[in-house]
Amino acid sequence: MKDQYLNREKLFAVAPMIDWTDRHCRTLHRQFTRHALLYTEMVVADAAIHGKRERILGFSPEEQPVALQLGGSEPVKLAAAARIGEAMGYKEINLNVGCPSDRVQSGAFGACLMQTPAIVAACVDAMKQTVAIPVTVKCRIGVDDQDTQVALDELADAVFRAGSDALWVHARKAWLKGLSPKENREIPPLDYDRVYRLKRQNPNQFIGINGGIQSLDEAVQHLNHVDGVMLGRAAYQDPMLLMDVDSRIYASAVTPPSIETVIDRMCAYADAHIAGGGRLSHVTRHMVGMFHGAAGARRWRQILSTEANRTDAPSAVIRYAYDMVRNAPAAEAA
Ligand SMILES: Cc1cc2nc3c(=O)[nH]c(=O)nc-3n(C[C@H](O)[C@H](O)[C@H](O)COP(=O)(O)O)c2cc1C
Repeated sequence: MKDQYLNREKLFAVAPMIDWTDRHCRTLHRQFTRHALLYTEMVVADAAIHGKRERILGFSPEEQPVALQLGGSEPVKLAAAARIGEAMGYKEINLNVGCPSDRVQSGAFGACLMQTPAIVAACVDAMKQTVAIPVTVKCRIGVDDQDTQVALDELADAVFRAGSDALWVHARKAWLKGLSPKENREIPPLDYDRVYRLKRQNPNQFIGINGGIQSLDEAVQHLNHVDGVMLGRAAYQDPMLLMDVDSRIYASAVTPPSIETVIDRMCAYADAHIAGGGRLSHVTRHMVGMFHGAAGARRWRQILSTEANRTDAPSAVIRYAYDMVRNAPAAEAA
């Protein structure tokens, strides 16, 4: 990834999303795109250091390239967590400076760090001193009543001076009081121009944009202004959107696998997961959004939300649900 950042090639990423972008989700997304950078859920530095490592950080080389997102505000701990992440094979370490939840604020990290760029810089510096893989930051354009012109400039200057290889900006403020995390992803208005301006001011730095991007058409437009584009909810809710990432963003001529092949691979993956003591629903809950808008999608969703949730459900449930899509009359499309 380092070259990609340093050369500022265009980059497409799927955003870090707690409870969503776990290894099963990333395995699904990787079926559709070889090149997109996939982020983990946020892992708190203490959990990375003291937690059950394989359960919290384990992943398969087939998911690569994967970036580990860390939460924290203590340079020593973040450096230790970054070292563990690097040793486990992650291609990048990213620091969360955007999450507004109460739990995160009480730990004094996430979005509230927008108010203390010097601390963020110290964290980046400590991680850069410790690992050879890229270290990046994901932030907002500001919090609460901050002036976004000043706040984002100060944060960007601080992290780039500390050696950050990239800055991903969720192009809206976080309001730390009074909004739930979900509302904080919807209510503060998006300001893409603010991020474009940051890029113009920092032509030699990698700046990526995130927030409210619904389609690859929109992603391509953003890439006229910034170096990277990151999709969260749109990619999760309609994962087959990722099928065109390699051709449209990376100009790859390699044809993506057919849906039949993806279904076969996900069944094999689910079989291995079940054989290891897991449940089918751990895998299928991320597949519910497939076939978005296609004929049979409703039956697909129904089966994956009911039968796949049985404790002993086998991977054949995926095939059964897929048969509903394959055999659905086209008139059903919605
Ligand atoms: C369920 C969920 C969990 C999220 N968890 C994280 C997280 O762990 N770290 C983070 O930086 N952002 C997190 N986010 C925010 C996303 O990374 C992203 O910034 C936000 O959803 C805006 O992008 P989008 O409009 O493309 O979804 C989360 C978003 C969702 C929907």
